[in-house]
Amino acid sequence: MITGAWEAWLAERADLRRVRGTVRSDPVLRGEARPRGGAEVLDLASNDYLGLSQDEQVVAAAHEALDRYGASATASRLVTGTLPVHRELEASLCRLTGQPGALAFSTGYAANLGALTALSGRGAEILLDAHAHASLHDAARMSRVPHATFAHSDPADLDRELSRRAGSRVLVAVESIYSVLGDAAPLPDLVAVCARHDALLVVDEAHGIGVAGQGRGLVAELGLVDAPNLVVTMTLSKSLGSQGGAVLAPPTVREHLVNTARSFIFDTGLAPAAAAAARAAADIVAADPRLAARVRAHAQAIAATLAIDPAAGAVQSLPMASPEAAVAACLDLRRHGVLVGCFRPPSVPDGISRLRVTARADLAPADVAAAAQLIADVAADHRGAAA
Ligand SMILES: Cc1ncc(COP(=O)(O)O)c(C=O)c1O
Repeated sequence: MITGAWEAWLAERADLRRVRGTVRSDPVLRGEARPRGGAEVLDLASNDYLGLSQDEQVVAAAHEALDRYGASATASRLVTGTLPVHRELEASLCRLTGQPGALAFSTGYAANLGALTALSGRGAEILLDAHAHASLHDAARMSRVPHATFAHSDPADLDRELSRRAGSRVLVAVESIYSVLGDAAPLPDLVAVCARHDALLVVDEAHGIGVAGQGRGLVAELGLVDAPNLVVTMTLSKSLGSQGGAVLAPPTVREHLVNTARSFIFDTGLAPAAAAAARAAADIVAADPRLAARVRAHAQAIAATLAIDPAAGAVQSLPMASPEAAVAACLDLRRHGVLVGCFRPPSVPDGISRLRVTARADLAPADVAAAAQLIADVAADHRGAAA
């Protein structure tokens, strides 16, 4: 039971959230069964860009791993928690992305924590793109080294910041395709700037894998797999429809992470069913570039109907006039059976609230078109459509 000063403090924080309009909740919006086509709700809010969380082969792979290994890895990967399915997953991720090595973590969040903390350390500094995901910011804090941001996707600013740190070992962290605005990072320029300053570039491909580069990610699309001092992180929970994360890097980096990444060492290994599902999904994406093409075509159709510039990834975001307008439009759409996400401060880098509309490869083009039109109409009703 929470009482006394703690009860009062929790009530004060809740009041503050209400006043600021930043109350969050975790409603159950989908039934127990999640039918794909013809569902009672059309889910354009999830991160299941390719619809693989419901794919028969992916689900069967998870079942098989459950039967074979049980529900848990039961221990840290360094103790008894490494199972054949982890090795198979890591090999599949390498095949998909063209990377020379992979290490699976229990989440993408943990992969970012592991990569930044283990690769920085005493004497290092971290520079983050100003729009980098919260997990990269948290990782920089947990690295306990000086860290700062540089202007979003601005290689010239990164160059200036690196020049100021000449002589230091600097790790730079960016996303390949940004989660909120959906814009692609200028990776070739960032790689060149980092190479000039001997900085290590960590690229979070959470929103690039499965969507860019025929599913192999933006790093592969741009021919940067062999770029010097480049490390990729990813989640298994978006295009791969499962759960977990990974760091993709040469074997020397993998070995360093196994020995020093605290979010790998002091964490139970990825659940076998999640590993098997992600492995099956990675193999499907590698074998079928049409999936990535389809999600991109749907994303472009949604952007055209919403009259916004198409984002590079699956997520399209429609600016709204206020957080209230965004929330009201979301609720209205929910009543019409269409789920969209809602970005509001403080989760938006530029303070502009948005409807977050996810393209999915597994929907029929007619359903996507109808849903996009409904979203445009509802947004206009709330006078929040992009000016
Ligand atoms: C850019 C980015 N990095 C990392 C993560 C974390 O991934 P996970 O959900 O697997 O922890 C996310 C998920 O929201 C993300 O968008």
